[in-house]
Amino acid sequence: METKPKPRVLSGMRPTGALHLGHLTGALDNWVRLQDAYDCFYSVVDYHALTTEYEDPSAIRQNVIEVTLDWLAAGIDPAKSHVFIQSLVPEHAELHLLLSMTTPVSWLERVPTYKDVQANMAHRDLATYGFLGYPLLQTADIVIYKANAVPVGEDQAPHIEISREIVRRFNNFYGEVFPEPQTLLTPVPRTPGTDGRKMSKSYGNAIYLKDADTEIRSKLKTMVTDPARQRKTDKGDPAKCPVFDLHKAFSTQETRDWAAAGCTSASIGCIECKSKLADHVIARIAPMREKREYLAARPDTVMDVLKTGSASARAVAQATMHEVRQAMKIEY
Ligand code: TRP
Ligand code: SF4
Repeated sequence: METKPKPRVLSGMRPTGALHLGHLTGALDNWVRLQDAYDCFYSVVDYHALTTEYEDPSAIRQNVIEVTLDWLAAGIDPAKSHVFIQSLVPEHAELHLLLSMTTPVSWLERVPTYKDVQANMAHRDLATYGFLGYPLLQTADIVIYKANAVPVGEDQAPHIEISREIVRRFNNFYGEVFPEPQTLLTPVPRTPGTDGRKMSKSYGNAIYLKDADTEIRSKLKTMVTDPARQRKTDKGDPAKCPVFDLHKAFSTQETRDWAAAGCTSASIGCIECKSKLADHVIARIAPMREKREYLAARPDTVMDVLKTGSASARAVAQATMHEVRQAMKIEY
């Protein structure tokens, strides 16, 4: 009996260092779930890191390992998915070049993240050709595998939109080579950091998947709460409390009910509430951390996983490039 091939998914993360709870709830949990229904390609996008870190790329290699450790610890399974390093499939760069022939500069300048990131990273000179081409390289990442769907958060939606436009223009000129990739919008629950803002490495408010239990406890102890609850006798509103957002992501229904009832009636204190949250976060993180530590002691094994995944991804990418070269009349 013939089985229908699974639809393809591709997603990527820049190697920025160890991952935190926000990456888990906002992406990784979803990536892990997708592995059964889709043929998944998950790439550590080191070329993309160079678009902003070109002045000092010394951290990139170690960060590739850190990200991969967190992926594997969270349940990304290299036996099911292609887990690979973008630059070990140099066809991404070739396709980026060929797509650049047809892509109007104005399309790239219009991508909202272009000006935003330049403004947020004013300390870097991002008036480069490579940085302008960031969404084009991302398009190459996706379409070189003819991915049907791209699981991303809301912030990446404009990038997938421009990918579709680039594909349409390419297919118009050269014939139907690429499918238009669909955005598989990940419902991103609010995962605030300890200061109540979005959890982010750059805010210094993150809890990392590799944090020790004691670190998780002490970070959560300092977390901001409903500002109206100054004393234990003040009643609180869980809807206004970032700690409660984390309860929603990590605690059981029973604990959530306990926290909500205790908060609104002022029968529990915030310290108690946070300590219970810490129990649940630790219960989730501890087994991952154990796996992470096991693998971290074996960096060669991790690099082997990436090299094997890159070779299998590359075979797919090379087949696509053969078609692309034929379509663009540069196949010799
Ligand atoms: N731009 C994405 C981010 O910053 C990373 C990325 C690169 C990506 N290539 C991709 C995401 C392809 C999805 C598909 O998060
Ligand atoms: Fe937040 Fe819990 Fe304190 Fe209520 S009791 S304000 S939910 S930390």
